[in-house]
Amino acid sequence: MADPLSDSPAWQALRRHHASVRELHLRDLFAADEGRVGRLGFEAGGIHADLSKHRLTEETLALLLTLAAERRVEERRDAMFRGEHVNTTEDRPALHVALRLPRERSLVVDGRDVVRDVHEVLDRMAAFSERVRSGEWRGHTGRRVRAVVNVGIGGSDLGPAMAYEALRAFSDRELELRFVSNVDGSDVRESVRDLDPEETLAIVSSKTFTTIETMTNAASIRTWLLDALGDESAIAKHVVAVSTNLDAVSEFGIDTDNAFGFWDWVGGRYSMDSAIGLSTMIAIGPASFGELLAGFHALDRHFAETPPERNLPLLMGLLGVWYRDFFGAQTHAVLPYDQYLARFPAYLQQLVMESNGKRVRLDGTPVDVETAPVVWGEPGTNGQHSFHQLLHQGTTLVPCDLIAFASPLEPLGEHHELLLANALAQAQALAFGRTADELRAAGVPERLVPHKEMPGNRPTSFLLLERLTPFALGSLVALYEHVVFTQGAIWDVDSFDQWGVELGKELAVQLAPLLAGGTRPDSLDASTAALAELIRRLRGGG
Ligand code: F6P
Repeated sequence: MADPLSDSPAWQALRRHHASVRELHLRDLFAADEGRVGRLGFEAGGIHADLSKHRLTEETLALLLTLAAERRVEERRDAMFRGEHVNTTEDRPALHVALRLPRERSLVVDGRDVVRDVHEVLDRMAAFSERVRSGEWRGHTGRRVRAVVNVGIGGSDLGPAMAYEALRAFSDRELELRFVSNVDGSDVRESVRDLDPEETLAIVSSKTFTTIETMTNAASIRTWLLDALGDESAIAKHVVAVSTNLDAVSEFGIDTDNAFGFWDWVGGRYSMDSAIGLSTMIAIGPASFGELLAGFHALDRHFAETPPERNLPLLMGLLGVWYRDFFGAQTHAVLPYDQYLARFPAYLQQLVMESNGKRVRLDGTPVDVETAPVVWGEPGTNGQHSFHQLLHQGTTLVPCDLIAFASPLEPLGEHHELLLANALAQAQALAFGRTADELRAAGVPERLVPHKEMPGNRPTSFLLLERLTPFALGSLVALYEHVVFTQGAIWDVDSFDQWGVELGKELAVQLAPLLAGGTRPDSLDASTAALAELIRRLRGGG
């Protein structure tokens, strides 16, 4: 059995160190150290990261790096990149980094060159995407595709939906993309309400092809298509699939010639650059999709090859541990100063919380420290007029990532200067605040001084990129994938399984017949039984 994490020498040293630095203010840290900004500026794959506004000293960083060494983060990283079975509870590799290896590379895992497999699928995706984009692919009645509906949930939805929003400026505006995920029938209905079935292509995206939400939505879309097109043979022209389970695809009635595979070593939340990205490729085209992959790969190389003290994902991962475990920060905000990244926080919620929201270590013993934070966020500047009040003056510490782009994709008057000025101002206000003395000097009445005082000392990472291109998006996503990996390695959890979602799925399957009028199972708890009964009564079922 592994020793408790909190007993390890590096952890103990960090505890002692935290006690001595926790009162230090960023104002003082900046005043005492002219070289701080230079030393704490990093670059990886076009991401410029200012980490100077973090509550750390040189000693903090050194101790965090010692923790990383003690937890063998680099060895674990190398094992992941080699394709070892780092997902121990499911006994498989977590090899999303192979999805973006260039064609000329090779990586043999469990006896197969996975790079060849990856590029074979990418080539088929590219050929199919080009046919759809050019109008060569025709629907059952001979019309070209104008709308693509991705049917999936979790990792089979959030990545593609986020990427479509993020890369809209690079997308074919003649094509409308929709994303159906919720098993709530209104999601399907509203998504297809104004679409013409003759011009609609559905992509059923599911790693397992058994997820009840996706299968139910896919069946409803199929019915919607058949009602309009009237003929089973229409399905081959209007429904394609992305899955690792090609037998189930064929059972569903989809021609496996129109199926795009991937592999069990791609986790759902790590799959937006696999065939799960088919909708993205149709939207932005194969060349831009290639740039997206190149962005991912640039960060992979950075993570794999850069020494720890300059390794951006590793350092950001360690900072997350610093705030979560030593300052007790329960949440982490991601604030993209870019409307196109509106879905990025939701995407990161699954990546972070499904990966590291764990309570036991690889050997099954409890983790004796806190693991993943709650991740949340909204695009700036909207959040400023909503929850930033709490970030600035609330009683809880929320480390924030601000993400901004030097140049806009849609230049419009002064908009971008204002947007960036706000991003910079927020990071500045969070770090340095405004003191009571400054307020008094500005003539603020004494009774208002405590209300207007801004404590500052609220840490931020400022991530600045040139423009939100496909490459930039790939590099950002890979950055966070590796941050999550680093934290999982420190906490010694399996970042690639998700057993915590299973019980709810099982119970829902058992409860559905009861709601449909079936008899109450004896073992059902009283509260659930009463709620089910109330639902039946409210629906007039007696
Ligand atoms: O319920 C969680 C989950 O298993 C996620 O990990 C996954 O991304 C999602 O469901 C969808 O799974 P699938 O792609 O197999 O439909």
